[in-house]
Amino acid sequence: MRLLSSCVSSTPADAKGGLSPPRRAPPRPFSAITLPPGAFRIHHHQLAQRSAFRNIYLHDLRIPHPIRPYSDESLLTRPKSRHIHNAARHTGLQENDLTQVAPRFAARSLAPQPEGTDGLFSQTWFPVCRSDEVVAGQVQGFDFLGGRVIVIRDDDGQARVLSAYCPHMGADLCTGEMIDGTVRCPFHFWRYDADGRCIATGSGDPTPPTARLFAFPTAERYGCIFAFNGETPLFDIPDFPDAPKKLIWKTGEYDREMPADPWVICCNTPDMQHIQVVHGISFDNGMPHDRVEWTPHSMVYEFDGTMRDGSAIRFRVGIFGANIYWQDGYIDGRWFGFVAPMGLPRPGNSRLFFTVGVEDDGSDPPAAREFLDAMYALEVHVATEDLPIIEHARFKPGTLTRSDQTLARFLQYLRDYPRAHPSAAFIS
Ligand code: FES
Ligand SMILES: [Fe+2]
Repeated sequence: MRLLSSCVSSTPADAKGGLSPPRRAPPRPFSAITLPPGAFRIHHHQLAQRSAFRNIYLHDLRIPHPIRPYSDESLLTRPKSRHIHNAARHTGLQENDLTQVAPRFAARSLAPQPEGTDGLFSQTWFPVCRSDEVVAGQVQGFDFLGGRVIVIRDDDGQARVLSAYCPHMGADLCTGEMIDGTVRCPFHFWRYDADGRCIATGSGDPTPPTARLFAFPTAERYGCIFAFNGETPLFDIPDFPDAPKKLIWKTGEYDREMPADPWVICCNTPDMQHIQVVHGISFDNGMPHDRVEWTPHSMVYEFDGTMRDGSAIRFRVGIFGANIYWQDGYIDGRWFGFVAPMGLPRPGNSRLFFTVGVEDDGSDPPAAREFLDAMYALEVHVATEDLPIIEHARFKPGTLTRSDQTLARFLQYLRDYPRAHPSAAFIS
């Protein structure tokens, strides 16, 4: 596994087959895009000027709210096969047809299993934390997949995600120290290198060959540190191959966990009904159901549209894995990219990150920064429209209609999505 650079200041712009700008309109004053009054308190802070993070700065979204428990008990107890079978019998359709456009008889049979069902989780890149939360020379601990991991930086500054519990007697290594590039357990001073190997015991006893930590495939992108839930990544974290060459980025985090699995939140993307009515986006050429590109690990579609305020947009939007929202496109002829990866600290809870990128060719940095801020505010505003709905919903996809055909297929995609938990014995 190649460790990726944490620097996201630019992306190659030479890939083929991407979007071209839609019709150009005169630039609008981006200050016209505002957040709902009182919806967010935004705290600004600048990242320390480290070379790896030069073009990232962070806004934290601090929203003081209690976390409401989300009950997905009904999903856990839902007998999938019986409902599908009965629906097929009542409608005369093949069982496979029911997963394309589900009639009401298939209600309560369409939901994917909650994360953690049978001890398994989606095999995807989960963001574990923000980049700025992990400083070289320190050990940081985070909840992940219902267990614990530590995140460190190796001698080259590359982030590593390792299981947190010491194989000797179970101390949480987040309370240990970094000594000469190794993690030293606080309990008996065993030491682990950046690959998770035990290289010394505190007593001088030989190191047991079985004494090792689980080393997740790790990548640092978009101001976040990702761990892949698996031995080998099944896909790459999405890039922006058609973006301008010189980009600046802004990364933030929703300040509380959402009481839903990431895949539940991701169901917004193929949900074309809600895109129209909640976000006020009209599709210029009808709902783009037939323009969705599916792979076993992603779905992406492209559309031209008009936003509620009249802005012309040309977007490619999609989901990678079961938790990464990706958006690439133009607003009024100007490119910007957006990624919202969702972490899974424990089943039924998501940690939400937002990253927006815009071009800064150096000709007018304040204007580039203003556009960046405006696009960030736009995406936060869109999230403001979605999250209260998701937070209070009991997600039960049941009576779907024709407009839900892409959503229905996405639910099938999720039901088929590979799950595993190779680190279970290490992080729990
Ligand atoms: S528990 Fe870690 S060295 Fe003993
Ligand atoms: Fe939405």
